[in-house]
Parts: sequence; structure tokens; C-alpha cells
Amino acid sequence: MRTQIVAGNWKMNCNLDESLHLLNELKLKDFSKAEVEVVIAPTFTNLYAVHQNLNDSSIKISSQNINENEEGAYTGEISPDMLKSVGVEYVIIGHSERRAIYNESDELLAKKATAALKHDLKIMFCIGEMLDQRKADKHFDVVKDQLEKGLFHLSASEMENVVIAYEPVWAIGTGETASPEQAQEIHEHIRNVLAKKYNQNIADQTSILYGGSVKPNNAKEIFAKKDVDGGLIGGASLDANSFAEIVMSF
Ligand code: 13P
Repeated sequence: MRTQIVAGNWKMNCNLDESLHLLNELKLKDFSKAEVEVVIAPTFTNLYAVHQNLNDSSIKISSQNINENEEGAYTGEISPDMLKSVGVEYVIIGHSERRAIYNESDELLAKKATAALKHDLKIMFCIGEMLDQRKADKHFDVVKDQLEKGLFHLSASEMENVVIAYEPVWAIGTGETASPEQAQEIHEHIRNVLAKKYNQNIADQTSILYGGSVKPNNAKEIFAKKDVDGGLIGGASLDANSFAEIVMSF
């Protein structure tokens, strides 16, 4: 069975005290009833402290970005080994905010994916179309293209460490979600694209998360769809009660 995952992308929110406070609130929640892997992605400066304060919690830590190089003169950047050394298990690669605001290209994201896997970091690879692309009915082609350019240089065995997050850009932070049916049809498409490139086994094993205005009141319906294996949550992950409710939606 595929791993079901609910991940909180804290984006550029929460200073150190706030991050530890949010973590402590999450630690009080009993996630053991939900058969879900719970992941949180604090900002770089708080990864170490959050990891140090996990204690016996099963929550896993993700970074929100990674640099594609090993080390050297890349002022302001964070290497795969640095992330690994502070307890990071996952990295988010290709978030639409990185693609749009920081001009991260498919080619760069492909390099980041290789670098992460080399250091035994698992990847949450984000794909998703913009509003005009959806209106022009191009969303199926857009996500296929993003997969091909960002991930399809990886081998089948490397793909075992990749989770895909489908995040339609028009649904991020807007309060507008894809309907459960819209999520299902594109997740199924993504799985078919994976099957064609690799094999049915890889396609069936790959967790595909939905992201974009997931809230406690819509998570259950979306997660109920057969090709939706969890969620990547932005705004609602900053509130422990909301995030816990979303986790418990499984
Ligand atoms: P929201 O849940 O705030 O729409 O953000 C989704 C997201 O971008 C997660 O990576």
C-alpha cells in the first residue's frame, strides 16, 4: 500500500520561538490513530531546533528547498549534506513559489532532485498548472511536462524515494480548492504518466499528494479519492488544531 502523507509547509512563517511552540502543540496531538506519515517543513533556520525537540514524536522533518551543489562558493545557499546533518528527511523541490518568484527552471529542479537523492533525502516534488493553463485546458500537458523535465532522468529505484505533490497554482493560498473530482482526474493522469515512463509498480507505489487550500472542512472529501494519497498543506498547517484535523481526516 502507498504511504499516506500529510505535510505542513510552513513557508516563511514562524520564528524560532513560534516554531517550537507550534511543534509542542503538534506533539500533544495523538496522530497514532491516523495511518499517515506526518511531515512538517519549517524554514531553514529552525530545522535543527525543531528536530532536536521532536523527542519521541513520529513527526518527520522536511526542508522547503535545497541547493543542487555539494559545497563551495554559493553565498546564502544550503547544501544537501547540511540538511541531512540536522535531521532532515524530506526536501520540497519545485514549489510553485520557487518556480514563479525565484525563477527556478525545470533543469535546475532536476539537478536538485539528483542532489537530494544522492544524500538519501526523500523528495516532495511539486507540480501544477497556473490558472490560464487550466482555463486553456492545458493542465494535463503541463504536469506531464513538469514530470518529464524535473524527474524523468531518475531511475525506477530512485523514484521510490520521490513523492509527488500536485498543487494547482490557482488554488494555493486563494481559498479556492480543486474539487475532489478535479484532483482525482489529474492524480490518475499523473499515475498513468508514471506507469508509462517506469512501470505500473512504480506508479502504484508513488504517493501523490494534493495541495492548495486544503482545510479541515474539505480534506476528507479530497483524501477519499483513490489516487489522492494525502496533502501538502500551507496556511492550515500553521494552526495545530487545523493541521491535526486534516491529518485525522484519513
Ligand atoms: P495553502 O494550503 O495555503 O493553499 O498552500 C498550499 C501550499 O502551497 C503548500 O505547499
